[in-house]
Amino acid sequence: MVVGDKLEQANTQADVANHPLDPLSAEEIDRAVAIVKASAGLTDNLLFETIVLREPSKNDVLNFHPGAYVPREAFLVALDSEKQEVHELIVSLDTNELLQSEHIEGVQPAFIFGDHQTNFLQFESKIKHDPRYVEALSKRGITNPDLVMIDPWPISNFGDEKEKGKRLAIGRAWLRREATDNGYARPIEGLSVIIDLDKSEIFEIQDFGVVPIPPEDGNYATRYQESFREDLKPIEITQPEGASFTVTGKHVDWQKWQFRVGYTPREGLVIHNVTYQDQGKNRSVLYRGALSEMVVPYGDPTNDHYKKQVFDSGEVGIGKCANSLELGCDCLGEIYYFDVSLYDITGRANTQKNVICMHEEDFGVLWKHTDNRIGETEVRRSRRLVVSFFTTVGNYEYGFFWYFYQDGSIDYQVKLTGVVNSSAMLPGAKPKHGTLVAPQVVAHNHQHYFNVRLDMMVDGQENSVYEVDTVRDPISEENKHGNAFSVKKTLLTEEADFPRKIDPYAARYWTVANHSRHNYMGEPVSYKIAPGENVLPFHHDDAVIMKRAAFMTGHMWATEYDRDEMFAAGNYPNQHSGGDGLPKWMSGNRSLENKDVVIWYTFGHNHIPRLEDWPVMPVAYTGFSIRPSGFFDRNPALDVPPSDPHCKCDGDCAC
Ligand code: NI
Repeated sequence: MVVGDKLEQANTQADVANHPLDPLSAEEIDRAVAIVKASAGLTDNLLFETIVLREPSKNDVLNFHPGAYVPREAFLVALDSEKQEVHELIVSLDTNELLQSEHIEGVQPAFIFGDHQTNFLQFESKIKHDPRYVEALSKRGITNPDLVMIDPWPISNFGDEKEKGKRLAIGRAWLRREATDNGYARPIEGLSVIIDLDKSEIFEIQDFGVVPIPPEDGNYATRYQESFREDLKPIEITQPEGASFTVTGKHVDWQKWQFRVGYTPREGLVIHNVTYQDQGKNRSVLYRGALSEMVVPYGDPTNDHYKKQVFDSGEVGIGKCANSLELGCDCLGEIYYFDVSLYDITGRANTQKNVICMHEEDFGVLWKHTDNRIGETEVRRSRRLVVSFFTTVGNYEYGFFWYFYQDGSIDYQVKLTGVVNSSAMLPGAKPKHGTLVAPQVVAHNHQHYFNVRLDMMVDGQENSVYEVDTVRDPISEENKHGNAFSVKKTLLTEEADFPRKIDPYAARYWTVANHSRHNYMGEPVSYKIAPGENVLPFHHDDAVIMKRAAFMTGHMWATEYDRDEMFAAGNYPNQHSGGDGLPKWMSGNRSLENKDVVIWYTFGHNHIPRLEDWPVMPVAYTGFSIRPSGFFDRNPALDVPPSDPHCKCDGDCAC
């Protein structure tokens, strides 16, 4: 059996509730923690950063069939807060044994606030009632610390000796006018508190000078809105016969697509084992896809704003901060929700309801043609399957959306909304590195970078990557009139060929091809990675962030598959000085020709704030596409039926 067929088998037999890729259940999380506590020989002061399924080997997954034994293991990262040591642990959930325990030196875990007794709000309360902090507030005329909000920000790593080896965060502050208004309207500029997360106490207060608190409210909540527009009629999405997908456990079957839904606290939504049925056969497209890392670097050099560079995935955990979604609010129509199992810092499991939303959407016209001479129109409506979740990281919201289409295409989209990060300026001052969005309130220029790890499996595991440019042909005997343009296709054979950058003037895209499978015209079958909006960083090459988030410096990256290479900026980006992740792994320059290739696509959204982004930002969209490109022999959506027999024209159809 060729490897491509294995995924077909894995999916067609996936009508079992239990699959080796299913995320840990709440019971398994509790059990994994109990095993670690009982056998790892660590102190009683363990705090848990990560508790996830240790995904089985690809071989085990691809050969899985009901009744087959696949070891079930959990991977944990625990902080021994007494010794301030990070430990990675692997436990067997079959035998309840600790299989592996390793002390990882010189790293910091992602954010963990508080200890066994205190939650984040208690932790925040302790900081803002500290007499030193109260004094700094009173210099600014703030007498009620209860109205102060302190958002913890990663501190980055600027090589400050006194920060070395300490687990720290920067507390940035805002002031509510009343208990429940939008605090971000009143930044407390110039006052930062460096927090020692190990001791839950103040490490240092940094006062860069008093700036008056901005005067105006910036409220968006319903109760602050004086009136609403009155011309909005109801819109209802009904599917009287239900949705067209079926869900079995975590396995989804929709139209010709099949895949599995996974979830981790760091990556959020994970899509596994994606196949598309073509001429009766489930053909593999993608083994695993998920956000591998993201970072939001800011462009203001004043005070300590230069330290704002947040890895929301690796330093915080977008899956940990996910929202429970509500019908009619976040998602409309016939919705299927997946719950997810998470845990608190002490390792106690909890179930969060309705985190992943899945539904179908009408998406306009799929294809159409009018044959004028015979007066005939054929038109098909497009339907897409949407799988998504939303996360709140401090002031910002991100929605992560996978769209599956009937023509074999996949879109990956991030929706950005929430409240822009706000700082204050002196009355009358104009910002160079941001936009005044309200009197004395500046929103700094920044960018949002996302890296999506795509473990491609185009008709099998052995794939190759091409860069495809469109080029102008020179004038020649063959091209006398200079109208000719053609395609230049370059095989990228090794890791040193990457990263590649977008080139909109060459209409550049990349294909992932399988040289052992050919389409109807005899060419290797392939899927293309098609860029959407994209940009490069504007930071100086020597800026700290360029090393910490090297994945921003190119758009298309590729590596040979390695089970342990999962996150573009490395496993522990928090307070890391940089160089880990993609640049490190690619230094071995592995061959990529006919190999198990992993694509890491980076896309950036440049955010020069607008007044219209205040006080809450209308959604901005960014993403890219994964489209068949000679994968099928012809348009695979010819068999989508007409939605309604009356969608034909008689006589005059067009001119
Ligand atoms: Ni933004």
